[in-house]
Amino acid sequence: MSVQIVETAPFDGQKPGTSGLRKQVAVFQQSHYLENFVQSIFDTVDGFQGKTLVLGGDGRFHNDVAIQTILRMAAANGVGKVMVGQDGILSTPACSCVIRKHHTFGGIALSASHNPGGPDGDFGIKFNIGNGGPAPEKVTDAIYARSLAISRYRFMDAPVVDLSVLGTTQIGGMVVEVFDPVADYADQMASLFDFDAIRDLFHRGFRLRFDAMHAVCGPYARRIVEGMLEAPVGTVIHADPLPDFGGHHPDPNPVNAKDLIAFMNGPDATDMAAATDGDGDRNMIVGQGIAVTPSDSLAVLTANASLVPGYRDGVAGVARSMPTSAAVDRVADALGIPHYETPTGWKFFGNLLDDGRITFCGEESYGTSSRHIREKDGIWAILFWLNLLARTGDSVAGTMQKHWARFGRNYYSRHDYESIDSSRANALMDHLRSRLDSLPGQVFGALTVAEADEFAYTDPVDGSVSEHQGIRIFFTDGSRIVFRLSGTGTVGATLRVYFDRYDAERLDLEPQAALAHLIKAADDIAAIPAFTGLPGPTVVT
Ligand code: G1P
Ligand code: ZN
Repeated sequence: MSVQIVETAPFDGQKPGTSGLRKQVAVFQQSHYLENFVQSIFDTVDGFQGKTLVLGGDGRFHNDVAIQTILRMAAANGVGKVMVGQDGILSTPACSCVIRKHHTFGGIALSASHNPGGPDGDFGIKFNIGNGGPAPEKVTDAIYARSLAISRYRFMDAPVVDLSVLGTTQIGGMVVEVFDPVADYADQMASLFDFDAIRDLFHRGFRLRFDAMHAVCGPYARRIVEGMLEAPVGTVIHADPLPDFGGHHPDPNPVNAKDLIAFMNGPDATDMAAATDGDGDRNMIVGQGIAVTPSDSLAVLTANASLVPGYRDGVAGVARSMPTSAAVDRVADALGIPHYETPTGWKFFGNLLDDGRITFCGEESYGTSSRHIREKDGIWAILFWLNLLARTGDSVAGTMQKHWARFGRNYYSRHDYESIDSSRANALMDHLRSRLDSLPGQVFGALTVAEADEFAYTDPVDGSVSEHQGIRIFFTDGSRIVFRLSGTGTVGATLRVYFDRYDAERLDLEPQAALAHLIKAADDIAAIPAFTGLPGPTVVT
């Protein structure tokens, strides 16, 4: 085995987005593409020589090939040891858990999250630092800068490592440990939640339908939910990870999981249903006849923290991404704890968690988590709900009704305009930006604009500033519309429009109807059909 120095040339646009570098599989299959990015990581970060890295992915197409490449490059760059999940499998939350538990230098997670898989789907790579969370922007910016100047990479000429067998081997001087990707994570879940109470719940006949969407959570949910918690076998459906996720879009929202929603609206509905995404960090909670919005879920978990052993000592504070509804803010105010508003993307929660300022955090995009790791965590959120229902004996719908009765309800929806021409999307945002000063006072139907701005965030811990994080329009009745462009898409641009309206009295409106006047105002303010060329949103969640 010998180290080879391979000549290469930069690719355009290896700029990590909201969560790492995400591109179509064909892009990653170009020779030197992955290698350039991985070498850019090694060239940028300091001090990994002789240390341990964690490596694994969500099992999507190209996962296995990429892992073998990264192993050889890690060996050639002087990494001491790589811990790889068996069969290359490692959910994003488990990756964070393992980095933290074993105090490793960091980790590399291979996933394009909820984007479709297979040869025609997407692939992605993300570098996580020693706190278990995504590298902060200054690191990802430096990696990107390096990728624009790269001229060679280091590669170890070595045989393929068998990832199916637990145990250790060597590549040159580097140890490769193939480990059980579920064990540490399952232990952590057992330490946080009341597993006895949840087991009792299942013994009493509570029925759950857990849709793993043929993605990474199948093995985790089988072992934890059907194994440790003794839910009936068959509770977890679509449990085998497949390279193309069975052709489905492994994004747990009411659009992509429409069969699950229909099931929960039908005669055979179980007591609760849940789904997780490609890499296991997103979750969706569904009750009989009700899909819980992620913004509400974060609020409910915060309000009920004392029912869960891991959080019995109280909640320090909470954070939500800016476009997420303000439901959790009301709970925080009631509890007398601080709440923070961060830009979209999990990396912005890292400092707040490390600094002990927050216990829970979440995003409207079906992501929720806590201080236990530095990623969002799908199974964690589902177990939290199970713990909660086990302790209260209530239903999902009943829990929501009581929550709204106590705190009022934030009607919320996100409208996506996908795969639009990038220049048109930018033109729409520029147009809005140019009108920010003139919007206040303008009237749109029954709504009057109170304020309009472009969200910028100053991290309270390290003082770093992130600008251009979405355009916000506030109305005098307290409602809000947010416009921003996605940072995770791989084709063209995606415009996201977020609607939030608070109502303390009317708790049972249909959300799209409750938001109809705001939706109309968004079209009027931003001329969405004219700019995007689309008559309406392509996805409504
Ligand atoms: C989307 C979500 C965002 C989430 C990210 C990664 O990013 O909106 O909340 O953190 O995926 O899962 P976006 O495409 O909007 O940039
Ligand atoms: Zn994900």
